[in-house]
Amino acid sequence: MTATSMTIHTEAFPEIHYRKAGTGKPLFLIHGFPEDSSLWEKVLPGIQETYTVIMPDLPGAGKSRAAAATLTMETMAGMLLAIQDHESSGPMVLGGHSMGGYTALAFASLYPDRVCGLSLIHSSAYADSPEKKESREKSIQILKKGGQQVFLQGMIPALFSEKFRQSHPETLKAQLKRAEKITPESMIRFYEAMIGRKDHRRFLQETSLPVQWIIGKEDSLIPLSDALTQTHLPSVSFVSIYENTGHMSMIEDPEKLSADLAAFTRYCYYP
Ligand code: MLT
Repeated sequence: MTATSMTIHTEAFPEIHYRKAGTGKPLFLIHGFPEDSSLWEKVLPGIQETYTVIMPDLPGAGKSRAAAATLTMETMAGMLLAIQDHESSGPMVLGGHSMGGYTALAFASLYPDRVCGLSLIHSSAYADSPEKKESREKSIQILKKGGQQVFLQGMIPALFSEKFRQSHPETLKAQLKRAEKITPESMIRFYEAMIGRKDHRRFLQETSLPVQWIIGKEDSLIPLSDALTQTHLPSVSFVSIYENTGHMSMIEDPEKLSADLAAFTRYCYYP
């Protein structure tokens, strides 16, 4: 089954693109940084047979046009709402990878009635620490000075486990090529949105939504130790820890991620 390409237009977002695959109740999957909706290709088998999988390109990534105004997690959540309205899909299971998870948390806290489950895939409810903000500011300066290549060549390998990095050099190259398609201006906007994002731990403590945690044991961006300080916050948590996996289970172990997403989505719709 191939995904269909969809485009909608709103005042805030002149051109929003998303992929849609499968049939059944909706499962939204939001990519992270610096990626686009094609990230989910390998997890579709196993979920598209049972669910309608909606995979947006965040503004400035993939085929979605960059937004006219500054980006925040909340404005990106507004973009998801526009897609949900367009699809008339009812409450959805919302999965987000890393920055996509930050966006999913903003969406769930703004529009709790529109969500029936939240899957945080290598993501976190913490805001950026002062050190993280400082290192993002440095990266922004590099991007402004034309250093996108240097920035990406440092970042992309760090997304994967050591073992995967060594054994799949061609996958890393493809990932780099895809990331290069995002303009430095859009990358800066994503970084600014991440610097400005809120801490969502209180939301997780208070929500009755089931929350799934996908954690890579070798994730250097969202370390296991950080993730584990959050998994107890929601009243219903599903925790999966992936061996030999970094920040990219949708590429490093897509069959396992697909099975975990299918099981969690089933629970959210038929508890
Ligand atoms: C991502 O994978 O979306 C980003 O690397 C997350 C981050 O930098 O916090």
